[in-house]
Amino acid sequence: MASPNIVFTLFGATGDLAQKKIMPALLNLYTQEKISHDSVIIAFSRRPWTNDEYRTFIEPSLTENGVSKDALHKFLKHVVYAQGNFDGPTAFDQLKNKIEVVRRDRQVFFHLAVQPEFYEPIALGLKNAGITDSAKIIIEKPIGHNLKTAELVESALRKGFTEENIFRIDHYLGKAGLHDLVAVRQKDSEFESHLNKDFVKTIEIKILEQIAIEGRGEFYETVGAIRDVGQNHALEMLAMVTMDMPPNSAHIPEARAKVLQRLVPITTEKIAEHIIRAQYKGYRQEQDVDAHSETETYFKIKTEINNDRWQNVHISLEGGKAFELKVAEIKINFSDGTTKVCNIERAHTPDAYEVVLEKAIESDKTYFVSIDEVKASWKFIDPILEHIKDVSLKFYDKGVSSASF
Ligand SMILES: NC(=O)c1ccc[n+]([C@@H]2O[C@H](COP(=O)([O-])OP(=O)(O)OC[C@H]3O[C@@H](n4cnc5c(N)ncnc54)[C@H](OP(=O)(O)O)[C@@H]3O)[C@@H](O)[C@H]2O)c1
Repeated sequence: MASPNIVFTLFGATGDLAQKKIMPALLNLYTQEKISHDSVIIAFSRRPWTNDEYRTFIEPSLTENGVSKDALHKFLKHVVYAQGNFDGPTAFDQLKNKIEVVRRDRQVFFHLAVQPEFYEPIALGLKNAGITDSAKIIIEKPIGHNLKTAELVESALRKGFTEENIFRIDHYLGKAGLHDLVAVRQKDSEFESHLNKDFVKTIEIKILEQIAIEGRGEFYETVGAIRDVGQNHALEMLAMVTMDMPPNSAHIPEARAKVLQRLVPITTEKIAEHIIRAQYKGYRQEQDVDAHSETETYFKIKTEINNDRWQNVHISLEGGKAFELKVAEIKINFSDGTTKVCNIERAHTPDAYEVVLEKAIESDKTYFVSIDEVKASWKFIDPILEHIKDVSLKFYDKGVSSASF
């Protein structure tokens, strides 16, 4: 089968994510012929550059994955640069002209690797320029800062795009370990028949990182660990293990949303019992961090799922920075004392970004977050964040192996 022929506009083409993840993933898809060798990548940002200047800028980010110089230069010939500012309408008209020249039978993609406040002006700019018809839009987490702002982002996107053509990335959904877990659930009927309150005592979701905030203090101060990994990655991991497995994989996002909607809300009165929040020592001395910052770099949320399958099974969601080791795992503790650990990270598998971009091109929505999942996760997280100050902030040493408070 011929590989898909695409015109892929990357907004934020000079940014951190574009350099570290998206352009390398596109290169790999190109070299593996998962996109056709006739595809066009339009790199969009404000700098007054020519095609060659952008190619020179991006090349060092593309030399690490073992691709030959020859293959890399062939790929770069398919990358063109578009200068523009999201603030004005002219950029979108110019982009339209660029796309029209190459569109023909190519599938049109817009990837928004930009700060979330730009999602709305970009979606509207594309709509007003008349280039949204049958195009697909890919956006990054965070989708909003809470339920209300997530709904605003959504209504802006829906002016130009249908739900079918909106791809919300949570790159954890591209991690091989999670798909292995789903495959086991689908194939191993004995394991699946034990995944419920009659056999499981507790489920622990854990995402610990070795890295601290790496100079991104300004960003992290407005986010904190709960918003950074709790509202998205940790809840998606939980959903993958607790959803009712649908007979048809296409319904997986629906099944994930359904279980997230059953999370028991954490009430104001019970918040101190259910939440631990902490900060690594030295965080307040990081660049661009307030000297009295209350931002959490670690959290643990204890909750339950209120449905027949999971009633009374204790669930914990934990995430934090500056730990001894990187850990991303789901631990299922069975009532008979046995444990199953699903490690989400697996060596020698394609990068999660490469996986999700390939799936967006294939239109496989099981790898993306539906709007119902976004809403359910904010509904659970918003009340926690509103009253988080009622929970005393604890402190931990950088490099500890686990948090014990
Ligand atoms: N970085 C990560 O590891 C990571 C991980 C997960 C999700 N994300 C999400 O991915 C998105 C991008 O993050 P990032 O870290 O890559 O951001 P970034 O490094 O700040 O990059 C922002 C990009 O937007 C462009 N830009 C800014 N204002 C513009 C304007 N008015 N008109 C046109 N272009 C403009 C910048 O281009 P110029 O300045 O060159 O014009 C730059 O290319 C964010 O939503 C973030 O939350 C990032």
